[in-house]
Amino acid sequence: MVILGIESSCDDTSAAIIRDGVLLSNVTASQAVHEAYGGVVPELASRAHQQNIVPVVDHAMKKAGVGRNDLSAVAFTRGPGLMGSLLVGVSFAKGLAASLDIPMIEVNHLQGHILAHFVREEGDEHVAPQFPFLCLLVSGGNSQIVLVRAYNDMEIIGRTIDDAAGEALDKCSKVMGLGYPGGPVIDRLARKGNPHAYDFARPQIGGYDYSFSGLKTSFLYNMREWVSQDAGFVEHHKEDLAASLEYTVVDILMRKLRKAVKDLGISQVAVAGGVSANTGLREAFMDHARRYGWKVFIPKFGYTTDNAAMIAMAGYFKYQDKDFCSMELPAYSRA
Ligand code: KG4
Repeated sequence: MVILGIESSCDDTSAAIIRDGVLLSNVTASQAVHEAYGGVVPELASRAHQQNIVPVVDHAMKKAGVGRNDLSAVAFTRGPGLMGSLLVGVSFAKGLAASLDIPMIEVNHLQGHILAHFVREEGDEHVAPQFPFLCLLVSGGNSQIVLVRAYNDMEIIGRTIDDAAGEALDKCSKVMGLGYPGGPVIDRLARKGNPHAYDFARPQIGGYDYSFSGLKTSFLYNMREWVSQDAGFVEHHKEDLAASLEYTVVDILMRKLRKAVKDLGISQVAVAGGVSANTGLREAFMDHARRYGWKVFIPKFGYTTDNAAMIAMAGYFKYQDKDFCSMELPAYSRA
């Protein structure tokens, strides 16, 4: 069984091939064009996807040593994401599936991130989580705690009521003039700073839900005050600012996760999404494994940000259930 996975929900065009559950290739073209604008520009993203999709798919197939006639199905990200970006991948998947007369498999992007934990490469000593497990899904657009009962049975038990964790990091980084995307910059600077140098607001909301807009506002107001007194404040204190900000975000994320683990009695805990690349968050997971006996699952760096390997993996599971979709299906932008 050979599955081609296609991902184009935001600013990465990616294609991957999985044969019998083993990843053969995963090729991604990123879009540097957005850096100058401090965020993803949807129109530019969809144009770049149009340029990239054919060479990226071609490269993935050549790398895997697979021809068009070997494909069993095309799995694609249907949503959520930027509509213009999604449409490129969805339309390409439809055209290819129709021309080869093979089934199409729709994949929810967020479920794809979680199933990235099941991606296996040749010769990989891979240990995947067992069901049920909890997954902290943290990206630029989402912060969720998901109860994963099976490949096809996931329940969001907590979600952000405003900004996502990655969004908060990106926006605070922008306020400091550190560039886009801010997450990796904050991560790098934070390694050299004191996480207890500054104290920022933490949300007080019930259940397993998150909120990051208060932290962002508290950061912004403090920053205005400090910069008004010392124009070189950011330059002199950026390591401490980054470390304190990262510490606060990780602390907010882990508190709710601890509560969910305790209440549900599930101690297999995974993390997924772009922010799972963060060093402080990864260390917090390892620390919780030692302190509370959690069995933790942290993805390889290549599967933290958007990639088609996770979409092909989701497609692999759905193929076994013959969970195919119709040509008529539209993309959707919201979860
Ligand atoms: O999952 P993702 O690639 O895209 C979606 O949002 O779908 O996540 C992107 C987010 C951005 O907010 C980015 O700043 C953040 O992940 N990010 C990081 C790191 N690498 C990426 N945040 C903190 N530390 C990192 N090392």
